[in-house]
Amino acid sequence: MAESFSAVILAAGKGTRLKISTPKPLCLCLERPLIDYVIEGLMNYDAAMNIGIVVGHQKELVVEHVKKNFEKQNIYYADQDQQLGTGHAVQVYFEANPKAYENEYTFIVCADTPLITADIYYELVKVIKMKNLDGVCASFNAKNPKGYGRIVKADKGFSIVEEKDATQDQKQIIEVNSGVYLFKTSYIQKHINKLNNQNNSGEFYLTDLLKAGQAVETIRFENEESFLGVNDLIQLDNAASILQERINEEHMLNGVRIINKNSVYITPDVKIGLGTVIYPNTTLMGKTIIGNDCIIESGSVIKDSLIDDEVTVKAYSYFEKAQVDAKAVIGPMARLREGSHIGESCKIGNFVETKKAILREGAKVSHLSYVGDADIGKNTNIGCGFITCNYDGANKHKTTIGENSFIGSDCQMIAPITIGNSAYIGSGSTINKDVPDDAFAIARQRQVTKEGMAKKFLKTSKNS
Ligand code: UD1
Ligand code: MG
Repeated sequence: MAESFSAVILAAGKGTRLKISTPKPLCLCLERPLIDYVIEGLMNYDAAMNIGIVVGHQKELVVEHVKKNFEKQNIYYADQDQQLGTGHAVQVYFEANPKAYENEYTFIVCADTPLITADIYYELVKVIKMKNLDGVCASFNAKNPKGYGRIVKADKGFSIVEEKDATQDQKQIIEVNSGVYLFKTSYIQKHINKLNNQNNSGEFYLTDLLKAGQAVETIRFENEESFLGVNDLIQLDNAASILQERINEEHMLNGVRIINKNSVYITPDVKIGLGTVIYPNTTLMGKTIIGNDCIIESGSVIKDSLIDDEVTVKAYSYFEKAQVDAKAVIGPMARLREGSHIGESCKIGNFVETKKAILREGAKVSHLSYVGDADIGKNTNIGCGFITCNYDGANKHKTTIGENSFIGSDCQMIAPITIGNSAYIGSGSTINKDVPDDAFAIARQRQVTKEGMAKKFLKTSKNS
């Protein structure tokens, strides 16, 4: 048999202690399901590894998600219809998967430990081979061992006592089982069907595979936080904080200046270029990519957006699926909705909302405006209080404005409408007819001024 590795992820449990309807493997930790971290950790060890997942509780949702997110990965799904324990889950997997015995070694991990990194798997492999063991289990000294299986050492081998079965003395043991194991597959084959459920939970414990007298050892790791198991919402938040710190520190080591890193929320897929400064209380999510030398001020939320180099995003701006080209300045308090593409050196000022709007190089919308379903030409300046009236109650219509045009303040464009290049629209106009290149258009009533008539309207207080 070739020396090879496969991995089984246990993901069938109910996750009762979380008390939420989402199945635990799909519970979001920094916007990404817990199970994704586990699969990626294994793939970082060996991208081509055969992975099996034991599913049960809400299995359709779990399988659908994993298939969609890891479509290229070779993953086998085994159904554990009744969740009779972690040992039973492994029995079910080996019964169901005819190829399960083909690899010499098998990792077993839980779907609820998202912080395990590939270096831990390397260490398990190193020790099991060096000492020619049948099984190794990653352990650690827990500050608070409650809930974890306790490691009971023997002259040879060791055993694990679950919290529910532990005596008062055993509960004092601080070395605990992380739930990450590596076995010789032949050892699993020999012992897995001998497990029983004679314990206080009435479950088949995987941990009973590890016994005193066998060629099994624990490998005690120092970094307790890498093994955090997520069983309740407090542990979920603790795991997210640890992940956040890892992500933010990695960006910082890559030359991104994050100010007050504990206050900045950045999800795992976000990419940020060298020299960019991220101010406190900023949220960067999804597939967002930010270029070099940008400034992202406090309170901004940027989701699934592309931001080129040297862009400034001023405080409290909100982006969703938007694109911003180099040197543009956005905000403060701007909202770029889906399909906004703000060109190079453009300016979007405070209280401006854009949606499906293309602003070409150098265009400016500086104050209090709505620009929806629009294409604004190069260097066109749009004054304060501009509105594209894009919706007629049933359909959306487009506003097109050419290059180098000037739109005065408080104008509305009743779409569909086209304004040419170098056009000039007087302030306060409601424009409902196309305006050609170089034309001036104004659409408001002429002013009437009556000398001396103001006193008729000015109210004076009786007391004054
Ligand atoms: C388990 C270990 C414990 C260890 C801890 C580390 C056992 C008996 N106990 O406890 O020693 O310290 O992990 O985090 O293994 N699952 C199934 N089918 C089942 C039951 C569970 O697939 O029938 C899955 C769950 O979805 C979960 C994983 O196995 O991903 C672990 O189950 P969980 O209930 O979280 O076990 P712990 O109580 O945390
Ligand atoms: Mg657990």
